[in-house]
Amino acid sequence: MSSFWSAWIIVISLGSIFGCWWLLYATRKSQTTDSETEETMGHSFDGIEELDNPLPKWWFYMFLATIIFGLAYYALYPGLGNFKGFLGWTQVNQWENEVAKANEKYDPIFKAFAEKSVEDLSTDPAALKVGQRLFANNCSVCHGSTARGAVGFPNLTDNDWLYGGSADQIKASIMEGRMASMPAKGLNPAMSKSDITDLSNYLLSFSDRAENKPSAERGATMFQTACSACHGADAKGMQALGAPNLTDNAWLYGGTPSMIQQTIEFGRAGVMPAHKDLLGEEKVHVLAAYIYSLSKGQ
Ligand code: HEC
Ligand code: HEC
Repeated sequence: MSSFWSAWIIVISLGSIFGCWWLLYATRKSQTTDSETEETMGHSFDGIEELDNPLPKWWFYMFLATIIFGLAYYALYPGLGNFKGFLGWTQVNQWENEVAKANEKYDPIFKAFAEKSVEDLSTDPAALKVGQRLFANNCSVCHGSTARGAVGFPNLTDNDWLYGGSADQIKASIMEGRMASMPAKGLNPAMSKSDITDLSNYLLSFSDRAENKPSAERGATMFQTACSACHGADAKGMQALGAPNLTDNAWLYGGTPSMIQQTIEFGRAGVMPAHKDLLGEEKVHVLAAYIYSLSKGQ
């Protein structure tokens, strides 16, 4: 802050405190005697009259106390422009102290967890409890509080994986994040509306929902040129690319004909953010164990 604005703030802040102080004394009746007058101010309402008496002492001292409190606060804490206060307090150093204290307490716990494999941890009730809390704080906004996901956010409990459900694959998903890329119309940008309908009929045929058999057959042919590079010739998906299995009737973006056609026409690009820097490897390790246990139904 420039020194002009700093001075501006100091003048207004101290000015209003001293202004209150002046007001308090200037309006204090000179008659500091305890005797009360019967003189009225001429105000009367509902039979209640306002008498011309000084402020009660306790009230006067209370005002005085707030003024002293205000000045003491400005001396100790930041508030007066660029002046930092004699205590040197900041939000950041308070937060840092709290984090340091928490780390001191929890570091040994996470260190001990880190020595076990994800598979072993996934049967350790203490680790799962910690994992559940970490999940609630960091993951449930997207994957839901029960990890069952939502449209566009995968269910993590069903053992149906975009990127693989081994301990290492789950941990890699959380550490490095994932970025899916399903291009609009696959590898055939010239695809027509009726091609898209054919393809969706082909995909629906895996769950016996194709509306039109010849259309599904045309779709099957088209699939081999425009889609199989990522989803595989059998449409069972490819975990290295995060391309989902399209035959299992489990849908990330919805399995109605219109949702499938929308996916094909406009593409999809789901992003799982990387958590390596945010949480650190030790916490991710515990989270991976928690997810692993959910998918194994433990
Ligand atoms: C370049 C690789 C690639 C190609 C080519 C491709 N896909 Fe995909 N597809 C993906 C990926 C990756 C996803 C997952 C997107 C996500 O998670 O956001 C996906 C998702 C889908 C989904 C959504 C599945 C669900 O569970 O909701 C459908 C449907 C689909 N693709 C159909 C097709 C069809 C039909 C074609 C051919 C026209 C095709 N894809 C071509 C990579 C590809
Ligand atoms: C901003 C939303 C968001 C947050 C927060 C988030 N995720 Fe994800 N996650 C996603 C999306 C979207 C995908 C699917 C990416 C795709 O479409 O390919 C995903 C995918 C995953 C996968 C891979 C699933 C599979 O089928 O292979 C795992 C595991 C996972 N997330 C775990 C977590 C954990 C654990 C956390 C908390 C540390 C977390 N996610 C936080 C959005 C999120």
